[in-house]
Amino acid sequence: MRSAYDVGVIGCGYWGPNLIRNFNQLKETNVLKVADLDNTRLQRMKEVYPLISITSDYEEVIRDPLIDIVAIATPVGTHFKFASEALAAGKHVFIEKPLCASSDEGRRLIALAEANGLKLMVGHTFLYTSAVRKMKEIVDSGELGEIYYINSQRLNLGLFQKDINVIWDLAPHDLSIILHLLGREPAVISASGSAHINPAIEDVASVTLHFDDNVVAFVQCSWLDPDKVRRMTVVGSRKMMIYDDIQATEKIRIYDKCVEKPPYYDSFAEFTYSYKYGDVRIPKLDGGEPICTQLNHFVECVRLNTQPITDGHNGLKVVTILEAAQRSIKNHGKQINLDEPAPVLTSGEAKNAA
Ligand SMILES: NC(=O)c1ccc[n+]([C@@H]2O[C@H](COP(=O)([O-])OP(=O)(O)OC[C@H]3O[C@@H](n4cnc5c(N)ncnc54)[C@H](O)[C@@H]3O)[C@@H](O)[C@H]2O)c1
Repeated sequence: MRSAYDVGVIGCGYWGPNLIRNFNQLKETNVLKVADLDNTRLQRMKEVYPLISITSDYEEVIRDPLIDIVAIATPVGTHFKFASEALAAGKHVFIEKPLCASSDEGRRLIALAEANGLKLMVGHTFLYTSAVRKMKEIVDSGELGEIYYINSQRLNLGLFQKDINVIWDLAPHDLSIILHLLGREPAVISASGSAHINPAIEDVASVTLHFDDNVVAFVQCSWLDPDKVRRMTVVGSRKMMIYDDIQATEKIRIYDKCVEKPPYYDSFAEFTYSYKYGDVRIPKLDGGEPICTQLNHFVECVRLNTQPITDGHNGLKVVTILEAAQRSIKNHGKQINLDEPAPVLTSGEAKNAA
């Protein structure tokens, strides 16, 4: 029996199998066909899911009239080509992060999806975790007060990528979380990075996002760190919050700590800092697999014709920051104003620039 939506998946390397498993678990979707250039990987999928058909030609997925949704889990340099062809063929498209290799490609994908009345969603998976949902609730409630700054670190030994640098690989997660928590976009980006193993690809980098009203966010990414770190600190005028994704439970801690300014002072000499050290609260988080929540949301948006939280516009915001960070690195940390139009790059040029 046909499910409500038949799915074709392009790419079953490290991440694609997670999409296949979760689409098959959802009541409304069924994976019909999987494409990959690697026959061993395809055979493995066939062993696990004997009913799916496999192919080395991605066009067989895009051209299949039975397929309603195309999910793309291939290297970023291929995202635009596969997604634009799938949208042109009338398929709803789910793309793994980052949406594509340049802001120009992102704008073209959005236009194509909108012109054809199709859903386009990017896999900013962390926004579908219970930890990030809870953090958003806490920030929006005002419990932390006015947000001063966010500091995010995503460090590990590897996994080295051959086609993109560490920012394009790791920072989409941090950037999507930061934009979600603050609910706005930065005005200026600066970044620095260096390449130690492959001289053409930065493996250590740091991006600074300057928002209006003196709010700042720092993102540090590394494939060259002895320790696996996935930690974000959100500092507010009243409280501070730490999100440690490495923890199996108790991922979020809210510290009742702050620096209190005196309400009135006539001169700086009268200014005395007062430090508040209060309790630490650990909010309870719901369970559930974020990929399942994410794909369920996508299918619901297709069914109800509503806009995904991480739609093409959301994906484009992250790509625009990645692109600006890349330009800043190549220009020795120059501040890039996001209002400045980025030079138009093709996928190939963007890949080389990375
Ligand atoms: N959401 C997340 O947390 C998360 C985690 C990891 C990776 N990702 C994203 O998933 C995507 C894939 O990453 P990965 O780590 O699985 O990479 P990978 O290299 O392990 O897998 C990519 C697969 O795509 C296949 N492929 C490449 N070109 C193809 C083509 N022309 N036709 C068909 N298949 C082709 C390769 O053979 C490979 O099997 C990337 O965009 C990455 O950023 C997302």
